[in-house]
Amino acid sequence: MSPFRLTRTLPEDATGAALRADVRAGLTGSPKTLPPKWFYDARGSELFEEITALPEYYPTRAEREILLARSDEIAAASGARTLVELGSGSSEKTRHLIAALHGLHTYVPVDVSESALTGAGQALAAERPGLRVHALVADFTAGLTLPDTPGPRLVAFLGGTIGNLLPAERSAFLASVRSLLAPGDALLLGTDLVKDEKTLVRAYDDAAGVTASFNKNVLNVVDRELGADFDPDAFDHVALWDAEHEWIEMRLRSRTAQSVKIPALELVVDFAEGEELRTEVSAKFRQEGVRAELSAAGLDLTRWWTDGEGRFALSLSVAR
Ligand SMILES: C[S@@+](CC[C@H](N)C(=O)[O-])C[C@H]1O[C@@H](n2cnc3c(N)ncnc32)[C@H](O)[C@@H]1O
Repeated sequence: MSPFRLTRTLPEDATGAALRADVRAGLTGSPKTLPPKWFYDARGSELFEEITALPEYYPTRAEREILLARSDEIAAASGARTLVELGSGSSEKTRHLIAALHGLHTYVPVDVSESALTGAGQALAAERPGLRVHALVADFTAGLTLPDTPGPRLVAFLGGTIGNLLPAERSAFLASVRSLLAPGDALLLGTDLVKDEKTLVRAYDDAAGVTASFNKNVLNVVDRELGADFDPDAFDHVALWDAEHEWIEMRLRSRTAQSVKIPALELVVDFAEGEELRTEVSAKFRQEGVRAELSAAGLDLTRWWTDGEGRFALSLSVAR
């Protein structure tokens, strides 16, 4: 069995303090919002894995198809000895890339979900003798300090997770990714593509209601961590396409006029009947936009692959 290490880069209370700050800012603002990273406690990570297998949720299958076809090319182009994966979750698709990276020394999965990291990291370390797995429990938007491992470095950011960042957050994030790379190191980025509204909305509003449970899970997190009395059943799951911004929004719509107490914040939050709380944006992309955003961060797009139906893209870009 290979070595598996897990490092918490945040001080013990930092997550709690960050949740309190985000919930206070998000629920006292107008419109009300919560950042998507708080979906992912152990239950949220499980629900996300269920989503990836839903018939309506094409992004995971499309990205896996590209990785299966292109991992050898990615491995040859990057020659990576260290693979860092941001928001790695179950690392399930990454296995194909890891198998192709014959000279890989260390895999560094980074996620806010410790349960996902532990499960995935231990399984990978057992599967691939000699590979060091150094998991980081960390917020990839908060500035990362990576372990000192041999280059070249390849940073992977899969699943279309970059679409969960708003445009200004994306440019700050891409600049921070660039700062993790030496010239010639690479970024492998998964981006979901703009397509017809029906396909997009169905992917975020499945018939079995798994995405609805995932969306409402953020209320369970706030209840458990901050002693709040949100009743998830008093909210409806909403997914809609914003054609102007080219993003999907997930929201929770209050079924009635209600007040929610959040004792840890000494806060009472009033919802009007029908009032919506935005819990996630998921931006969809076009090649020229991705190229421009990468270039602004000092990354040159060198490869662009899509699945057979042109639904999802993986791009490889190289640090200048
Ligand atoms: C949409 S899922 C994608 C998971 C996996 N990469 C895939 O492609 O299936 C997003 C992942 O990013 C993690 N995540 C979300 N926000 C994060 C943040 N700010 N910092 C670190 N991880 C985060 C979540 O816990 C989750 O595992």
